[in-house]
Amino acid sequence: MTIRILAFLIITLAIFGACNDPQKDSSVLVLNEEVEALLGQMTLEEKAGQMTNVSLMALAKGDFWMRRDTVELDTAKMNELLLRQHVGSVQNLGTYPFSPDEWRKNIGEVQDVAMKQSRLGIPVLYGIDAVHGANYSAGSTLFPQQLALAATWSPDLAETTGAITSYEIKASGIPWNYSPVLDVCKQPLWGRVFETFGEDTYLTTVMGDAMIKGAQGEDIAQDDKSAVCLKHFLGYGQPDNGKDRSPTYLPERMLRQYHLPPFESAIKNGALTVMINSGSVNGIPSHADYHLITEILKGELGFEGFTISDWEDIMNLVKTHQVAEDEKMAVKISVNAGLDMCMEPYDASFAEYLVELVKEGAVPMSRVDDAVRRILNVKMKLGLFEKPLNDPSLYPKYGSEEFAEESYKAALECLTLLKNKNESLPLSTKKKILVTGVGANSFNYLNGAWSRTWGGTETDFNDEEKKTVLEAIQDKIGNGNVSYVEGTSYEEDINISKAVLAARSVDQVVVVLGEKPATEKPSDIEDLTMPKAQLDLVKAIAKTGKPIVLVLLEARPRIISEIEPLVESILMAYLPGSEGGRAIADVLFGDFNPCGKLPYTYPRETGSIWAYDHTKADKRDGGFGFEAFNPQFEFGDGLSYTNFKYDNLNLPKDTFLMSEDIPISVEVTNTGKRSGKEVIQLYTADLVASIVPSVKQLRRFEKTKIEPGETKKINFTLREKDLAFVNQANKWITEPGEFEVKIDTFSLKFYLKK
Ligand code: BGC
Repeated sequence: MTIRILAFLIITLAIFGACNDPQKDSSVLVLNEEVEALLGQMTLEEKAGQMTNVSLMALAKGDFWMRRDTVELDTAKMNELLLRQHVGSVQNLGTYPFSPDEWRKNIGEVQDVAMKQSRLGIPVLYGIDAVHGANYSAGSTLFPQQLALAATWSPDLAETTGAITSYEIKASGIPWNYSPVLDVCKQPLWGRVFETFGEDTYLTTVMGDAMIKGAQGEDIAQDDKSAVCLKHFLGYGQPDNGKDRSPTYLPERMLRQYHLPPFESAIKNGALTVMINSGSVNGIPSHADYHLITEILKGELGFEGFTISDWEDIMNLVKTHQVAEDEKMAVKISVNAGLDMCMEPYDASFAEYLVELVKEGAVPMSRVDDAVRRILNVKMKLGLFEKPLNDPSLYPKYGSEEFAEESYKAALECLTLLKNKNESLPLSTKKKILVTGVGANSFNYLNGAWSRTWGGTETDFNDEEKKTVLEAIQDKIGNGNVSYVEGTSYEEDINISKAVLAARSVDQVVVVLGEKPATEKPSDIEDLTMPKAQLDLVKAIAKTGKPIVLVLLEARPRIISEIEPLVESILMAYLPGSEGGRAIADVLFGDFNPCGKLPYTYPRETGSIWAYDHTKADKRDGGFGFEAFNPQFEFGDGLSYTNFKYDNLNLPKDTFLMSEDIPISVEVTNTGKRSGKEVIQLYTADLVASIVPSVKQLRRFEKTKIEPGETKKINFTLREKDLAFVNQANKWITEPGEFEVKIDTFSLKFYLKK
């Protein structure tokens, strides 16, 4: 902190200390006064620089993208960007993982220039995509990707994931994480489904809140906490054509009902930064949308933090979206729409345009001040002025066994048993097994993209000591009992005939199909069906008559309807992270009783893609026998090695006043022989409403362990607002009338009265 700011802080503290008004939270006031003091000293150029976020590559020597060993920062580039252009934020790496020491060295150099050589000494805010653990730090803990985490239906596991990720990025000197993704995704073609919590608004909200609680704690300045960045505001997860960053056409009432609530809740829970959707909604690119950013986010939701653009997306208003004739106009539109920080990876042209625009009166100074105020406030809340880099000795648990065990627990709990014909699982350890398929011996297929590198495809940076599915199975039953044939690559037949031959001499086949790691544009696909070669592998092996367990390592639900009848059992593993191989083997051999539940609807046909909370009219068959909603597996599905029997769904009465609580209970008995966890899911349906209602909506859930023979009574309470929807005037409303509660196969009706 510079001497000037320190002096100001001491005086301000003294003044507010003297006030001693117990009614006022003086710490907030002091913080704001400090920001105002700093803002008051800043030139327009310094302010525009604060609003600029460049990538580390803009500060590095040589061809950054080619770097696989060391990155050296370039003094001339740092002087230009950090000192002359006053850039206030730097972000990311994805070419190879830095060790925590390398991170601290590089960020330390950046902070030294920004804090020791600049006029005001404002620290740089470093941001990263640590989306499933500190994935760009070598040796860190890699967790299941967010979709897999959603399949655990365990807010506790989401909280732990958030907390350990924070700890490990802070060990790397990074205080700001572009996570969680709160996009609700009902479009399974989209390549970033695996980065979301799935297709349901309520599940996304609960899991998102828990992850944020773990990441931010009570105070983001703590040594093991960081600031989250909610992504991608708003509607990014719903591209009409399924391609990344492509347009969405969605009535505002649906945006509000399905996509806004997770963000609203996260902001109430203290989220201080939000990244804007790269695409457009209803023809308005989100980066140009005043209504979205200023009126809804900052106005209605009362968001006091700052917004950041997505990668180059202000400039994309020119060439991609064609709503601005040049870059300067794009900057004007975006900043006036409420954008506070521009992620322009390669240079600080944004800042230069902004200075000109303010001088010309095209962007008001008050708008710039508002943005800078928000940014400085976050930097102060993070304690960056006092501690731009934390003491490395504070992180003894970095990459520890203890943290790996937490990732392992999450991997175990995400695994979702979708089929188990004749209880063919768990497998016996006494049998000879063939393991085959593109995902069988790949660490990259377990982790997916954003793993050590952006694309996640490079094998050089894999953690040697972690197990693939094949290795974990070998550990379980001995190498002598396991044969392995690759079978296929992602799309090509490598040696299917060899796999068939090998299948003939074993008792059991485990086929691990999967998706090549990819995110963003490289994750676009032309067909949701699992690649033909992979389907062919299963078809060919099925002809041998040997029982097949199908394990799926998928970023989204790839259609498998042709092969589903050919396999005995199916275990959905999503992208379960570094401990996924171990966890899969534990479930296959019965050392862990699976308890994951699908966080999305798994389609059976490419022409029939709709979410669980569709409307009755979606499946109108008009007497022609077209029962269209016939997915492969339903949202919330997931079997266990034990059986759970539901009974006594209870409502104390059949009519409730709007002001009353609605208590609901149900009994669940473990009628099998094994202890197991069950996720009790409570849905409601509005039977008559002024806007066509969904057939059902998830309202509550509880995951609980039930011992064999034990019966547990689960209690839920609903309130009027849980039955609300967004009406034509874009307002939340609960209409009186008849409703239904549904748990498992049971349902009860009740009446809601004014
Ligand atoms: C992605 C974001 C990510 C950002 C920074 C963008 O291309 O859409 O999710 O946070 O890059 O890496």
